[in-house]
Amino acid sequence: MKTYKIALIKGDGIGPEIIDEAVKVLDAVSSCFEFDFSYDEALMGGCAYDITGDPLPAETIKKALASDAVLFGAIGGEKWDDLPREKRPESGLLRFRKELGVYANLRPAVVYDELVNASSLKPEVVRGVDLMVVRELIGGIYFGEPKGRDENKGWNTMVYTRQEIERIAHNAFQIAMERSKRVCSIDKANVLDVSQLWREVVEEVAKEYPEVELSHMYVDNAAMQLIRDPKQFDVMLTGNIFGDILSDEASMLSGSIGLLPSASVGAKIGVYEPIHGSAPDIAGQGIANPIATIASASMMLRYALGEIAAADKIDDAIKRALSEGYRTKDLAQYDAKEICSTSEMGSIIANYAAKCKH
Ligand code: IPM
Ligand code: MG
Repeated sequence: MKTYKIALIKGDGIGPEIIDEAVKVLDAVSSCFEFDFSYDEALMGGCAYDITGDPLPAETIKKALASDAVLFGAIGGEKWDDLPREKRPESGLLRFRKELGVYANLRPAVVYDELVNASSLKPEVVRGVDLMVVRELIGGIYFGEPKGRDENKGWNTMVYTRQEIERIAHNAFQIAMERSKRVCSIDKANVLDVSQLWREVVEEVAKEYPEVELSHMYVDNAAMQLIRDPKQFDVMLTGNIFGDILSDEASMLSGSIGLLPSASVGAKIGVYEPIHGSAPDIAGQGIANPIATIASASMMLRYALGEIAAADKIDDAIKRALSEGYRTKDLAQYDAKEICSTSEMGSIIANYAAKCKH
């Protein structure tokens, strides 16, 4: 029996509720396989600040590095909005990503057939959407120097080095090789020097992947194309801030931001987290959708632990719960047979995932 060590970072807002459901599902699915999990909880975000005065205590990094993978909920909330920048929950998360070195953020956006009516777009536009945003995660304007502000001015710098662009481009092309072999690289090369370099380097890397068709798109156009005709995209390769924005936009294709998982990889230890935030407005009410986090746990099994069959079982269990009409409140208007709470949804998926025929 193998035991995987998972660092759990529940975070703020709905973080604890959704992580609990993902753990329920992981434990359920493991009952069908020759492995189990041991969990080590660590603090990050506002809750970490409240207890330790630091949104990212050193111990959290230690625990993450001693694990096989990190499963993370969400951080942030109004309560901490007025803190100095480096004390804010978001700074903890950014430092965490940087310290771990997870430079590649994979954000799949898939439209479940059962939910084609849930999107704000027409069913025929979204049916069959299956794309992957590959977002550079530890560079770009989020981290560039110089940055700062005084009373009358605030400034940040968007900077990418050749090496940073090369490595994320390789990720995108490798992922495309496993998919429909199309990469669309998104930039603002008509305006930004950093994007010109981005485009040149992506072109060079593309030569190593002759089977993959590469196209380029300006980010403003990409934002428009994503809702005009999302099926044109397979892999969308992009920098940090454009990827942040486009992945939120892509989530709306699927009907709820509560459905989209992500994997942050590229280093020894990967971080698996929903793309949504901590939703303090609905925290503690038992109405958050746990599916994005459960699907992130599935990505963890697939990418970090190589437990493909177990990951498939979770993905199937999610689909089954949706096709049987179970919906959390965010999706209540869409072909719901039964509205369920966060923990009911977790239990339903866990039950399906624990059926051991595979
Ligand atoms: C995300 C979030 C974070 C980001 C915030 C919370 C710092 O929006 O993971 O997309 O901007 O990367
Ligand atoms: Mg975001």
